[in-house]
Amino acid sequence: MKQNIAVAIDGPAAAGKSTVAKIIAEKLTYVYIDTGAMYRALTYKAIKEGVSLEEERSLMNLLKDTTIDLQQSVEGQKVILDGEEVTLDIRTEQVTNQVSIVAKHGEVRHEMVKRQRELALKRGVVMDGRDIGTHVIPDAEVKIFLIASVQERAERRHKENLEKGFSSDLEKLKDEIRRRDKIDSEREVSPLLKAEDAVEIDTTSLSIIEVAEKILRVVHDKLDRGE
Ligand code: CDP
Ligand code: CDP
Repeated sequence: MKQNIAVAIDGPAAAGKSTVAKIIAEKLTYVYIDTGAMYRALTYKAIKEGVSLEEERSLMNLLKDTTIDLQQSVEGQKVILDGEEVTLDIRTEQVTNQVSIVAKHGEVRHEMVKRQRELALKRGVVMDGRDIGTHVIPDAEVKIFLIASVQERAERRHKENLEKGFSSDLEKLKDEIRRRDKIDSEREVSPLLKAEDAVEIDTTSLSIIEVAEKILRVVHDKLDRGE
């Protein structure tokens, strides 16, 4: 029986990908890889260094001298950019609202995908993003596509912000989510798309545990069949 497989989890912003991906990875003792964190880290560095997010060549120059490590720790995944921890810095509103511009560039994606495929080579991975099942690991043994209504996704982010003590505007969050979904879905290179062989789960009225259980059932079915 094949024990170490790749689980690809894709979907739009705040569909619950990273939360459930972490739970699944823990249950299976697999490595969790958050590909969005890689695009966020590059966006953060470009903003900090005053590099135009629209200029692919400048971004590529920056990326070639950039190391992004995703480290597993007891407190969760740590993001290390050029040796310095940026786990929280890459989650600001400024980065969130601009990351999709960086992720549109074909060459940037090409380099990121190359790095992501190296991380997935060993299997025993749960990877989340937008193009994992369609492009990064097209031969992933399990592919999941998570969706939820815009209202639900904005409410989740709103709650998260309030819990962290940040100010938050639900209508603004809805607009930002719609805008990011649109850029991610309409870009030319590997857009956000459900892979033909992905299992779609609408998480709108499901709890985190319910979603994780559904995915684990798909994984165990696959492992039991030993394909
Ligand atoms: O967690 P959230 O859904 O807000 O976003 P994320 O997973 O951190 O991804 C941030 C952005 O990176 C997305 O909106 C995409 O523009 C880009 N991204 C991508 O293009 N491809 C991926 N595999 C992962 C993220
Ligand atoms: O990674 P992605 O952007 O897809 O979403 P996330 O960061 O995992 O989830 C966004 C928020 O929704 C988190 O605060 C989760 O706790 C919450 N969530 C939820 O309330 N119900 C779910 N079924 C999934 C996530």
